[in-house]
Amino acid sequence: MPISAPRLIVDGLSAGYGAVRALDQVSLSLEPGETVALLGTSGNGKSTLINTIMGLVPPRSGTIFLEENGVRTPLAGRRTESIADLGLALVPEGRRLFPRLTVEENLSLGAYRGAARGQRHERLAECFDAFPALKQRRRQLAGSMSGGEQQMLALARALMSAPRILLIDEPSVGLAPILVSRLIDTIAAMKARYRLSVLMAEQNFHQAVRIADRGYVLVQGRVAFVGRTADELRNSALVKTYYLGT
Ligand SMILES: Nc1ncnc2c1ncn2[C@@H]1O[C@H](COP(=O)(O)OP(=O)(O)O)[C@@H](O)[C@H]1O
Ligand SMILES: [Mg+2]
Repeated sequence: MPISAPRLIVDGLSAGYGAVRALDQVSLSLEPGETVALLGTSGNGKSTLINTIMGLVPPRSGTIFLEENGVRTPLAGRRTESIADLGLALVPEGRRLFPRLTVEENLSLGAYRGAARGQRHERLAECFDAFPALKQRRRQLAGSMSGGEQQMLALARALMSAPRILLIDEPSVGLAPILVSRLIDTIAAMKARYRLSVLMAEQNFHQAVRIADRGYVLVQGRVAFVGRTADELRNSALVKTYYLGT
C-alpha cells in the first residue's frame, strides 16, 4: 500500500563554501516509503546535500521541493524550523546531542516541530515504547552513554518531531561492526513503524545497501552513479573500483 507522504525532489542543486564547490548539479528523488542510500567516501558532498535539504547550507542554484497530490512546496530559502514543520527531520552527522542533558531532555528538545509540540508527552511515551532501552535510561546524561546508545537517542530524538521524511547522516560512524548492524536494523524497523521515507548518507556500503531500496553515489559533489536497485549498486563497476577499492 502506498504511504501518504510527499516526494522529495532535488533538481540541479549546487552548493558550496566560499571557493569550495561541494555540490555540482545534483539531482535525486525520494519517493514515499523508500529508503535511499547516499553513498560516497569522505569529502564527496553527502553532508552538504543533506544539510542543504534541511536549510542549514544555502543552495547556490537548483531547486529542492516536496510534491504531494500534485502540489509543489519549495524548500530552498526556507528556515530549518519551517522545513521541519513540513515533516522533515535530521539525524545529524556526529549525533549532536546535548551531552549534559538527560535522555528525556534530549528527546523533549526534538519535539519542536509545531504539530509535535502539543503532543510532546504522547510522542515521548511512543518513543519509549519504540526504544525500551532509552526508557530505562531516561534520567541518564546523554554524554555518559555508549556510542551505540547515543546514536539510538539521536534517531529517537529526530522521530519526536513526527517526521514523514528522515534524513540520516552517517549513523554508523564510530560504532563497532556489531552495533552498526544493529543500528541499521533499527533504522529499518523505525522506518516501517513510523511509515517514513529515509535518505541515509553512509560510507559503510554493505550495511547501507542491506536496507536500501536504491541509491546514489556522490563523487566530488556530483552524482556519479544511480543504482535503481540495491543489486545495481552492488554490481556497479564504479562502486567496486572507486568506492569499495576492490
Ligand atoms: N563548513 C565547511 N567549510 C568549508 N568547506 C567545507 C565545509 N563543510 C564541508 N566542506 C567541504 O565540502 C566538501 C564536501 O564535504 P561534505 O559535504 O562534508 O562531504 P561528506 O559528507 O561526503 O564527507 C569537502 O571538500 C569538504 O572539505
Ligand atoms: Mg559527511
